[in-house]
Amino acid sequence: MIIRSAQFIKSSTSLEQCPSPEKPEFGFVGRSNVGKSSLINMLTSRPRLAKTSGQPGRTRTINHFYINESWFLVDLPGYGYAKVPVTLKDRWIKSVEKYILNRDNLVTLFVLIDSRLNPQKSDLEFMEFLGINHIPFVRVFTKSDKLSKDALKKAIVLYNNKMLTNWDSLPVTFITSSVKRTGRNEILKYISNLLTSFQMVSDIGRNF
Ligand code: GTP
Ligand code: MG
Repeated sequence: MIIRSAQFIKSSTSLEQCPSPEKPEFGFVGRSNVGKSSLINMLTSRPRLAKTSGQPGRTRTINHFYINESWFLVDLPGYGYAKVPVTLKDRWIKSVEKYILNRDNLVTLFVLIDSRLNPQKSDLEFMEFLGINHIPFVRVFTKSDKLSKDALKKAIVLYNNKMLTNWDSLPVTFITSSVKRTGRNEILKYISNLLTSFQMVSDIGRNF
């Protein structure tokens, strides 16, 4: 898929403020600092589209980016950042949770996982929450440039084994590096296929 245009539309602090849910959208979620905003910039080849930072907790709102004037990428605030006051943390979690559970045009969520870390409780619990609520999601192992091929393989086998103690099967999985642009074609192809299915389903809906 060719990204012809990528436009920041708005930052929202609640589901109600989000753009009207008419176009398909793909959300990027995961712990603070995992590389959500960087991945959006890498996918769109626009390094300054989403704001990134070395400091965790940079993205604090739900940010909509309109792609090819037909669908959205959505940069979500990170979870699991200890330094944020509890009340603020609760507010973020509630607004993201509400968005995830109620956003009708959300096609799938990309759950980003830092490939350098052992399986984190917050990520495992978050994916369980998605499973229980039947929210479609895929995994993205980020920052793969920071690990050797061998270490990366080991980390993913470890992660899979950990998940398979709770899950019958594993979700679709991507490996990315926003520095080396690894995984870009694979993710864009995946989105493109889902957009085609989404279009077919809405065409059928319109004909009934
Ligand atoms: P919050 O908005 O705080 O939740 O963080 P985020 O998940 O959006 O992370 P962000 O994209 O801002 O990246 C955090 C830090 O990780 C930045 O310093 C990025 O440069 C770095 N980073 C992101 N992706 C990669 C990657 O693939 N490889 C390497 N080496 N660094 C990365
Ligand atoms: Mg961010």
